[in-house]
Amino acid sequence: MSPIEKLLLENKAWASEVKADDPGYFERLAHIQTPQFLWIGCSDSRVPADKITGTQPGEIFVHRNIANMVVHTDVNLLSVLDYAVTHLKVQHVIVCGHYGCGGVKASMTNHDYKYVLNMWLRNIKDVYRLYADELNAITDMENRADRLVELNVKEQVLHLAKTSIIQRAWKKEQRPQLHGWVYGLKDGIIKPVFQMDAGAQIDPLYQYDDL
Ligand code: CO
Repeated sequence: MSPIEKLLLENKAWASEVKADDPGYFERLAHIQTPQFLWIGCSDSRVPADKITGTQPGEIFVHRNIANMVVHTDVNLLSVLDYAVTHLKVQHVIVCGHYGCGGVKASMTNHDYKYVLNMWLRNIKDVYRLYADELNAITDMENRADRLVELNVKEQVLHLAKTSIIQRAWKKEQRPQLHGWVYGLKDGIIKPVFQMDAGAQIDPLYQYDDL
């Protein structure tokens, strides 16, 4: 059996197992989804949002990209954010990075990853530049990369707060709460590193006053 055939076979086995456990399961979920959480995570295959948080289908709305970035020109991310916040009315937006992130490590090198990846990694280099003094003082390269993972998560949460989508929801509905987390590949534990409640102070330069 080919690996792709195995996926489809495993899917059938999973579906019948779920149905045997709870006959109304798929019918219920097909009608509506009311997730409370939006997850912005890394595409890394070792960080599956639902598995590591024990959430079920229907509970968590997910967007993943390399190094869990919130890029202001990324129409994909912004569409997911707008839909989750404005329409699904999620209570929490979580940016979850992970230690040992390949994207973050790649951004710390001078290697030419060619056009598209260079463009994406530049966003992480920009975070490094903001915290260069602190990061350059860390001599162990693995520790330095792990600290950049934490700082990157914080910066991406700040990027969320700079969007009119979040600012409007904060002003009109006092939600969502924003969270910056880092997942440990070595122990499976999530460490919260940053949080912003609805209405939190942000740099006035980025505040919209006519929402
Ligand atoms: Co990663």
